[in-house]
Amino acid sequence: MSEIIPIASDHAGFELKERVQSWLKEHGYEVKDLGTDSPASTDYADYAHPLAEMVSRGEVKRGVLLCGTGLGMAYAANRHPHVRAAVVWSPEIAELSRKHNDANVLVLPARFMSPEDAARILDVWLGTDFDGGRHTRRVGKIEREGSSE
Ligand code: RB5
Repeated sequence: MSEIIPIASDHAGFELKERVQSWLKEHGYEVKDLGTDSPASTDYADYAHPLAEMVSRGEVKRGVLLCGTGLGMAYAANRHPHVRAAVVWSPEIAELSRKHNDANVLVLPARFMSPEDAARILDVWLGTDFDGGRHTRRVGKIEREGSSE
């Protein structure tokens, strides 16, 4: 069974969201589109929270959010327990966000990247595992588990 990846954007990320969806489908993922459905003006938090809830509850392993800078989406998503939303603007940051931070939400700054940039980032982000080891303790401290160590 193919992995289900939820995806959501505001108006600023709408166009790139459509491209990212196609890329994901072409690469064998099942996409759950949580909107928005047009370039009409919207509020990013209305789209970040439902996706982050899915990840937080463990319904899906990971998801993708897009807005103009990536920042608003990340702020909203990171308010949910166990969500680690990373704003990623290069394949190198994509790799490190997985290896060191076990990022489970990829946030793309749609106004600052091409569809080709996004494809390169997706490829690395989806294909890189968490390194574990010392990073497990550090990631645990984000949720304040074992923070007295
Ligand atoms: C929308 O204009 C823009 O503010 C939004 O997409 C995002 O960049 C917010 O963080």
